[in-house]
Amino acid sequence: MSNKVLVTYASRAGSTAEVAEAIARTLLEGGAQVDVLPMQDVKDLSPYQAIIAGSAIRKSKWLPEAVQFIRTHQETLRHKSFAMYTVCITLAMSNGEQYRSAVADWVAPIRAMVKPLSEGLFAGRLDFSKLPFNWDTLMLRATVAAGIFPRGDHRDWNAIQAWAASLKPMLGG
Ligand SMILES: Cc1cc2nc3c(=O)[nH]c(=O)nc-3n(C[C@H](O)[C@H](O)[C@H](O)COP(=O)(O)O)c2cc1C
Repeated sequence: MSNKVLVTYASRAGSTAEVAEAIARTLLEGGAQVDVLPMQDVKDLSPYQAIIAGSAIRKSKWLPEAVQFIRTHQETLRHKSFAMYTVCITLAMSNGEQYRSAVADWVAPIRAMVKPLSEGLFAGRLDFSKLPFNWDTLMLRATVAAGIFPRGDHRDWNAIQAWAASLKPMLGG
């Protein structure tokens, strides 16, 4: 096993993928060897010493493919350095910080499978031009119209980079 790090993600509209890229960039700048892959393209974890896995939230849950990824690899992940991150729009609400523990609870099923060494919770992006026209999107538009969820890009790149930099001690030498 090398000292390679895998940053893997599940994303539907691209914002979590870009968060993964930003995490990887910070780790690369810190001297790590890093691969960035969507979860469906990860076949083998054996080359990696550390795995950083993240998902967008839909309906208060990680995306199903992300839950499945953790379920499939939980045994392996328990023997590696594992960190996870979550991207959602609740944390971008005007009073979003007060929901941080609720958002952390949404990820409890993941934590129950593999305990992470660190967890990142980040505000994401709501861009209707990147979403299909369907019932779920319509419901989401209603929450925006009601002033609950904000549209737009709320990713805090400084917070994302700071979290990525904080992972350095778990990445081995
Ligand atoms: C259908 C749908 C349902 C969503 N449900 C939630 C939710 O329950 N809670 C939340 O905080 N964000 C929710 N979001 C917001 C996404 O988590 C946020 O837009 C995220 O940045 C999307 O990541 P992606 O661009 O990688 O797909 C939802 C978004 C969509 C499109």
